[in-house]
Amino acid sequence: MSFLIDGKEISLAIKNEILHDVSLLKEKGCPPPSLAVVLVGNDPASQVYVKNKKKACEFTGIESLSFELPETTSQLELLSLIHELNNREDVTGILVQLPLPKHIDSQAILLAIKPGKDVDCFHPYNVGLLSVGQATLKPCTPWGVIELLKRSNITIEGKHCVVIGRSNIVGKPVGLMLLAENATVTTCHSKTKNIKEICKQADIIIAAVGIAHFVTADMVKEGAVLIDVGMNRLENGKLCGDIDFENCKDISSAITPVPGGVGPMTIAMLMKNCLTAAEMKESRGAFFGS
Ligand code: GUN
Repeated sequence: MSFLIDGKEISLAIKNEILHDVSLLKEKGCPPPSLAVVLVGNDPASQVYVKNKKKACEFTGIESLSFELPETTSQLELLSLIHELNNREDVTGILVQLPLPKHIDSQAILLAIKPGKDVDCFHPYNVGLLSVGQATLKPCTPWGVIELLKRSNITIEGKHCVVIGRSNIVGKPVGLMLLAENATVTTCHSKTKNIKEICKQADIIIAAVGIAHFVTADMVKEGAVLIDVGMNRLENGKLCGDIDFENCKDISSAITPVPGGVGPMTIAMLMKNCLTAAEMKESRGAFFGS
């Protein structure tokens, strides 16, 4: 068995650091960070994610405000709520849980969030800052992946990292962040030819494809590091990742489990962004869009 990267333990350490920094902010007389969480509709998975985000807020001393809207909410109504939250002094971070109902244009909603309060780092302004190495708020799951590697003492610089998946939430930004750490990055996707051969050359594989057990033992080089961003539900109800954990674990040098790997890190980095957004508000002027 290779080294098991414990996302629960690492995320707990990060949340404790945030709790400490939030206390320092409060001691200075600054208002605490506060996260407005917006959930539209009744998607059960989204309800679980939102509940976990609120729990993490409680743990770290970040205030959370909850806005649970019916499935029938119109785009205009949602935009109007975002506008109100953008202008509220007591709200330092805004998160609109995705996916939104089909009749709402998600891109228009994400574009409406003030960049300085965009703790998901989904706004094109923040994505642009990330692409030129100037990010203050960073995308949570990709940042979680980087922190997992760094805090497990896995060197990124000079490594060949193969990212599987090119989504705006994970695949594209994790590639940018790995590049910023001086990795050599290859991004594979559904139209990539010879995906098995490319993965076999990887020192680090980041699987974010959304297909259960997509990465099989024959795609993994001896000693590679395997980071699994996938969260798939099997027919028997069990959760599993994009990597065939059982058959890959002994080939790799380090591997993340699902659950308990990248998942808890996403929420920890969200809390970190909430803290950063509140700090940026205190030093207003330094950040366009705050
Ligand atoms: N839905 C699934 N993952 C995420 C996320 O990281 N942020 C938001 N807002 N919605 C999501």
